[in-house]
Amino acid sequence: MIKNPSPERITLLTTLLLSGIFACFLYYFKIPLLSFLIALFTFAALTYIVILYGLEVFIYRKIKLIYKTINHFKTQSLKKPNFIDDYNIDPIKKVNEEVIEWANSQKQEITQLKATEAYRKEFLGNVSHELKTPIFNIQGYIETLLDGAVEDPEVRYLFLQKAATSTERLNALVNDLLDISKMENNAMTMRFQEFEINELCKEVFESYGKLAISKHYHLGFKADCDIPFKVLADKDRIRQVLNNLIGNSIAYGKESGHTNIGLYDLDRTILIEVSDDGDGIEAEHLPRLFERFYRTDKSRSRNSGGSGLGLSIVKHIVEAHDQSIDVRSEVGKGTTFTFALKKA
Ligand SMILES: Nc1ncnc2c1ncn2[C@@H]1O[C@H](COP(=O)(O)OP(=O)(O)OP(=O)(O)O)[C@@H](O)[C@H]1O
Ligand SMILES: [Mg+2]
Repeated sequence: MIKNPSPERITLLTTLLLSGIFACFLYYFKIPLLSFLIALFTFAALTYIVILYGLEVFIYRKIKLIYKTINHFKTQSLKKPNFIDDYNIDPIKKVNEEVIEWANSQKQEITQLKATEAYRKEFLGNVSHELKTPIFNIQGYIETLLDGAVEDPEVRYLFLQKAATSTERLNALVNDLLDISKMENNAMTMRFQEFEINELCKEVFESYGKLAISKHYHLGFKADCDIPFKVLADKDRIRQVLNNLIGNSIAYGKESGHTNIGLYDLDRTILIEVSDDGDGIEAEHLPRLFERFYRTDKSRSRNSGGSGLGLSIVKHIVEAHDQSIDVRSEVGKGTTFTFALKKA
């Protein structure tokens, strides 16, 4: 076998072989020495050129075929690939470059698919886990009632109330998931309107009135911030943002804590700051805070009923307004969430 077969080597060997046969033929007919040499040399030269050219054309065609196949896989199109019809360009080098480029793009695609798959699995696991808790609770209350507790009016009322609370939680969770799914698929239509942002803040303060009183919690504006700034935004969605941020500050805040809203005129936008004086969030959690299902303290959030979807929804809503949301926090001092809305 020929080691490292190249078209030149194969041609040379074939030429030598054929020239040998040709030499025997000339010898048989007793050709004079000079004519013998001229004929043999001409034969060898012509054979070499013809075989080399033939081989290159043959290889070029084969490579062109491989190139077409790669190009088809790469682009997934039936469009004719623009393979250079120039025999001077090294086709092997060209195909080699194409194969490397293709392999790299395939590698990237596979890595991305693996990440998406891991994300999907984690998401499915989280959803099932979150749904399981309230369903399991409701099932427990109903079974206890059926087992005889229904006869006791006090227990009956208590368990029905607990089942209702779990049903509410289940409903809220499904609604949150639907919201996220809609926003991630860009299927959420925003209804922009002009409204006064300070009035909306007051509405949200009021909706948390009972809870705030029970925790001796204070909700209000920062000094000189209760100003009727008009913004252009989806009022219901911004209410949802404020509800989530204020709800979090109370849920994760301390007894007799404070949440204050600051409103600032930034020329084209109004900056909205929601600050609390709670325990704060450790720096390591901040980059992941807006991910779905992310909680800083899993056990504590579970006790307070959180599933880690609130801030993810907040982020989607703010981004649907072409703005971004930021968070800064200092352990022991408190947390501030900031976002802006277009001025009306
Ligand atoms: N103001 C805050 N102070 C301290 N920790 C906070 C604050 N806001 C959010 N967090 C932390 O961030 C986590 C994520 O909040 P997020 O609102 O996304 O989820 P959740 O409140 O746990 O559940 P959900 O809002 O879906 O009911 C919370 O679990 C909590 O640990
Ligand atoms: Mg929350």
